[in-house]
Amino acid sequence: MITLPHGYALMQSQYQDPRKNAMFNVILTFCLGESVAVPLFSMMRKSASHRLVLSVYDRIIRDEPRHAEFGWLTLAWMHRDWEDARGWIEEIFAIALGRIAQQYYFIGEYAPALTGTELTWGMIPVPYYRSCFEAAVSGVYARRMKHYGVSAEAIWHEMKAVYEGEGV
Ligand SMILES: [Fe+2]
Repeated sequence: MITLPHGYALMQSQYQDPRKNAMFNVILTFCLGESVAVPLFSMMRKSASHRLVLSVYDRIIRDEPRHAEFGWLTLAWMHRDWEDARGWIEEIFAIALGRIAQQYYFIGEYAPALTGTELTWGMIPVPYYRSCFEAAVSGVYARRMKHYGVSAEAIWHEMKAVYEGEGV
Protein backbone atom coordinates (compact mmCIF):
# COMPACT_ATOMS: atom_id res chain seq x y z
CA MET A 1 0.00 0.00 0.00
CA ILE A 2 1.21 3.51 -0.76
CA THR A 3 0.96 5.74 2.29
CA LEU A 4 1.46 9.42 2.78
CA PRO A 5 2.92 10.98 5.92
CA HIS A 6 0.72 10.51 8.99
CA GLY A 7 -0.40 7.13 7.71
CA TYR A 8 -3.00 8.47 5.30
CA ALA A 9 -3.69 5.72 2.78
CA LEU A 10 -3.35 7.01 -0.75
CA MET A 11 -4.74 3.87 -2.26
CA GLN A 12 -7.08 1.36 -0.77
CA SER A 13 -5.71 -2.12 -1.19
CA GLN A 14 -8.10 -4.76 0.00
CA TYR A 15 -7.42 -7.21 -2.83
CA GLN A 16 -4.49 -9.57 -3.43
CA ASP A 17 -4.09 -8.57 -7.06
CA PRO A 18 -2.64 -5.04 -7.37
CA ARG A 19 -4.53 -4.59 -10.63
CA LYS A 20 -7.80 -5.12 -8.79
CA ASN A 21 -6.81 -2.50 -6.23
CA ALA A 22 -5.95 -0.12 -9.04
CA MET A 23 -9.30 -0.76 -10.72
CA PHE A 24 -11.15 -0.25 -7.45
CA ASN A 25 -9.48 3.09 -6.85
CA VAL A 26 -10.03 4.26 -10.41
CA ILE A 27 -13.73 3.39 -10.32
CA LEU A 28 -14.35 4.76 -6.83
CA THR A 29 -12.37 7.96 -6.92
CA PHE A 30 -12.24 9.01 -10.53
CA CYS A 31 -15.15 7.40 -12.37
CA LEU A 32 -17.78 7.75 -9.66
CA GLY A 33 -16.42 10.38 -7.28
CA GLU A 34 -15.26 12.87 -9.86
CA SER A 35 -18.32 12.38 -12.08
CA VAL A 36 -20.78 13.21 -9.31
CA ALA A 37 -18.57 16.11 -8.22
CA VAL A 38 -19.26 17.98 -11.45
CA PRO A 39 -23.03 18.53 -10.94
CA LEU A 40 -22.55 18.82 -7.19
CA PHE A 41 -20.11 21.71 -7.45
CA SER A 42 -22.33 23.33 -10.08
CA MET A 43 -25.23 23.16 -7.65
CA MET A 44 -23.06 24.63 -4.90
CA ARG A 45 -21.94 27.42 -7.17
CA LYS A 46 -25.57 28.33 -7.84
CA SER A 47 -26.16 28.60 -4.12
CA ALA A 48 -23.01 30.64 -3.45
CA SER A 49 -22.77 34.40 -3.66
CA HIS A 50 -19.42 35.35 -2.12
CA ARG A 51 -17.19 36.69 -4.92
CA LEU A 52 -14.04 34.80 -3.96
CA VAL A 53 -16.00 31.59 -3.42
CA LEU A 54 -17.59 31.89 -6.86
CA SER A 55 -14.16 32.11 -8.49
CA VAL A 56 -13.01 29.02 -6.57
CA TYR A 57 -16.07 27.10 -7.78
CA ASP A 58 -15.39 28.25 -11.33
CA ARG A 59 -11.90 26.80 -11.13
CA ILE A 60 -13.09 23.53 -9.58
CA ILE A 61 -15.87 23.13 -12.13
CA ARG A 62 -13.33 23.63 -14.92
CA ASP A 63 -11.05 20.94 -13.46
CA GLU A 64 -13.48 18.23 -12.40
CA PRO A 65 -14.59 16.90 -15.81
CA ARG A 66 -10.93 16.16 -16.66
CA HIS A 67 -10.54 14.16 -13.47
CA ALA A 68 -13.64 12.12 -14.28
CA GLU A 69 -12.52 11.62 -17.87
CA PHE A 70 -9.19 10.30 -16.61
CA GLY A 71 -11.12 7.65 -14.68
CA TRP A 72 -13.34 6.56 -17.55
CA LEU A 73 -10.41 6.47 -19.94
CA THR A 74 -8.31 4.41 -17.52
CA LEU A 75 -11.19 2.00 -17.00
CA ALA A 76 -11.55 1.61 -20.77
CA TRP A 77 -7.84 0.88 -21.00
CA MET A 78 -8.02 -1.70 -18.19
CA HIS A 79 -10.99 -3.35 -19.90
CA ARG A 80 -9.14 -3.51 -23.21
CA ASP A 81 -5.79 -4.70 -21.91
CA TRP A 82 -6.70 -6.83 -18.90
CA GLU A 83 -8.92 -9.40 -20.51
CA ASP A 84 -8.91 -11.65 -17.44
CA ALA A 85 -9.94 -8.73 -15.21
CA ARG A 86 -13.10 -7.74 -17.06
CA GLY A 87 -15.24 -9.76 -14.67
CA TRP A 88 -14.18 -7.50 -11.81
CA ILE A 89 -15.86 -4.42 -13.19
CA GLU A 90 -19.41 -5.16 -12.06
CA GLU A 91 -18.36 -6.33 -8.60
CA ILE A 92 -16.11 -3.31 -8.05
CA PHE A 93 -18.67 -0.88 -9.43
CA ALA A 94 -21.30 -2.14 -6.97
CA ILE A 95 -18.96 -1.82 -3.98
CA ALA A 96 -17.77 1.63 -5.08
CA LEU A 97 -21.36 2.76 -5.67
CA GLY A 98 -22.18 1.77 -2.09
CA ARG A 99 -19.27 3.87 -0.83
CA ILE A 100 -20.39 6.90 -2.81
CA ALA A 101 -23.97 6.38 -1.65
CA GLN A 102 -22.77 6.44 1.97
CA GLN A 103 -21.34 9.89 1.32
CA TYR A 104 -24.14 11.40 -0.71
CA TYR A 105 -27.32 9.45 -0.22
CA PHE A 106 -27.79 10.43 3.38
CA ILE A 107 -31.29 9.71 4.60
CA GLY A 108 -30.85 10.30 8.31
CA GLU A 109 -32.96 12.90 10.03
CA TYR A 110 -30.08 15.23 10.86
CA ALA A 111 -30.60 18.15 8.50
CA PRO A 112 -29.86 21.42 10.27
CA ALA A 113 -30.88 24.64 8.56
CA LEU A 114 -28.00 26.35 6.79
CA THR A 115 -26.76 29.65 8.14
CA GLY A 116 -26.46 32.75 5.98
CA THR A 117 -22.69 32.33 5.83
CA GLU A 118 -22.97 28.71 4.78
CA LEU A 119 -25.35 29.68 1.99
CA THR A 120 -22.99 32.43 0.85
CA TRP A 121 -20.24 29.82 0.60
CA GLY A 122 -22.40 27.47 -1.42
CA MET A 123 -23.36 24.85 1.15
CA ILE A 124 -26.45 23.01 0.02
CA PRO A 125 -29.21 21.21 1.95
CA VAL A 126 -28.85 17.46 2.49
CA PRO A 127 -31.64 16.44 0.03
CA TYR A 128 -29.72 18.13 -2.80
CA TYR A 129 -26.86 15.67 -2.30
CA ARG A 130 -29.28 12.80 -2.67
CA SER A 131 -30.84 14.16 -5.84
CA CYS A 132 -27.41 14.89 -7.31
CA PHE A 133 -26.28 11.35 -6.57
CA GLU A 134 -29.40 9.76 -8.07
CA ALA A 135 -29.13 11.94 -11.15
CA ALA A 136 -25.57 10.66 -11.59
CA VAL A 137 -26.74 7.05 -11.23
CA SER A 138 -29.43 7.35 -13.90
CA GLY A 139 -27.29 9.66 -16.03
CA VAL A 140 -23.53 9.42 -16.30
CA TYR A 141 -23.05 6.17 -14.35
CA ALA A 142 -25.78 4.34 -16.27
CA ARG A 143 -24.52 5.62 -19.62
CA ARG A 144 -20.88 4.78 -18.98
CA MET A 145 -21.41 1.41 -17.30
CA LYS A 146 -23.78 0.19 -20.02
CA HIS A 147 -20.70 -0.15 -22.20
CA TYR A 148 -19.45 -2.85 -19.81
CA GLY A 149 -22.79 -4.63 -19.61
CA VAL A 150 -23.45 -3.29 -16.11
CA SER A 151 -26.77 -1.71 -15.14
CA ALA A 152 -26.01 1.06 -12.66
CA GLU A 153 -29.71 1.67 -12.15
CA ALA A 154 -30.53 -1.97 -11.36
CA ILE A 155 -27.67 -2.17 -8.86
CA TRP A 156 -28.72 1.09 -7.22
CA HIS A 157 -32.38 0.04 -7.14
CA GLU A 158 -31.47 -3.03 -5.09
CA MET A 159 -29.01 -1.16 -2.88
CA LYS A 160 -31.42 1.69 -2.21
CA ALA A 161 -34.06 -0.68 -0.85
CA VAL A 162 -31.50 -2.00 1.65
CA TYR A 163 -30.36 1.51 2.59
CA GLU A 164 -33.84 2.80 3.15
CA GLY A 165 -34.82 -0.37 4.99
CA GLU A 166 -31.95 0.15 7.40
CA GLY A 167 -32.61 3.86 7.72
CA VAL A 168 -28.91 4.65 7.13
FE1 LIG B 1 -11.48 16.35 -8.84
